[in-house]
Amino acid sequence: MRIAILGAGNVGGGLGRAFAAAGHDVVFGVRDPESVKTLAALADIPDSVAASPGVAVEGADVVVFAVRPVAITATVSELPSLAGKVVIDAMNRFDAEVTARSTTQDLAQLLPGAKLVKAFNTIGFENFGSAGARSIPAAMFIAGDDEDAKRVAMRLAEQIGFQPEDAGGMANTKVLEEMVKVWMALAQAHGRTVAFAISEG
Ligand SMILES: NC(=O)c1ccc[n+]([C@@H]2O[C@H](COP(=O)([O-])OP(=O)(O)OC[C@H]3O[C@@H](n4cnc5c(N)ncnc54)[C@H](OP(=O)(O)O)[C@@H]3O)[C@@H](O)[C@H]2O)c1
Repeated sequence: MRIAILGAGNVGGGLGRAFAAAGHDVVFGVRDPESVKTLAALADIPDSVAASPGVAVEGADVVVFAVRPVAITATVSELPSLAGKVVIDAMNRFDAEVTARSTTQDLAQLLPGAKLVKAFNTIGFENFGSAGARSIPAAMFIAGDDEDAKRVAMRLAEQIGFQPEDAGGMANTKVLEEMVKVWMALAQAHGRTVAFAISEG
């Protein structure tokens, strides 16, 4: 698949490396193709390219949002309609930016007709490339109302080594953002490689 990742920072770069290692084509959509972060991401991923957000999403099968939430509106303003396109939101919004709505719910309003899903937000970016090497698989929670988008996100999560878990509908996307506060507390004790896992019994 061709995956357009909007944002080439910690999360965008980390997901880009993992998706490329799984055999996908990665194109970054960024405000500055020459920024230090963008150049670092490109250097790590053979054949990846960076362009403006509007150009990056052209012909993409999947679009991933991995910018800072303050940049959502400006980034969306550069995009064509994403109606019918699978859009994965990997962002979290905290602190002064906190609202009762998730970034995914904001995107649903800003991108009418897009097939939205929340994923890849409940673990530190350092873990995207090493998920397949864990003795106990790390769960990747995926929430949204669009079943196609959920299927795509779950397949991508599995391909890069996570155990994908259906975490419910759009209403739970804010819950997944809040879960990160728990992950951060756990990371204090266990380090940033800590992950949520499923225990059945
Ligand atoms: N860090 C983690 O472990 C982690 C894990 C899961 C989810 N998240 C969430 O993912 C999101 C991104 O986090 P990150 O750690 O990847 O951040 P980051 O390393 O700072 O990267 C942010 C990206 O957003 C772009 N950006 C920032 N401000 C912008 C603006 N005003 N206009 C346009 N683009 C802008 C940056 O572009 P420039 O390079 O041009 O500045 C960069 O590409 C956040 O919501 C975060 O909570 C983080």
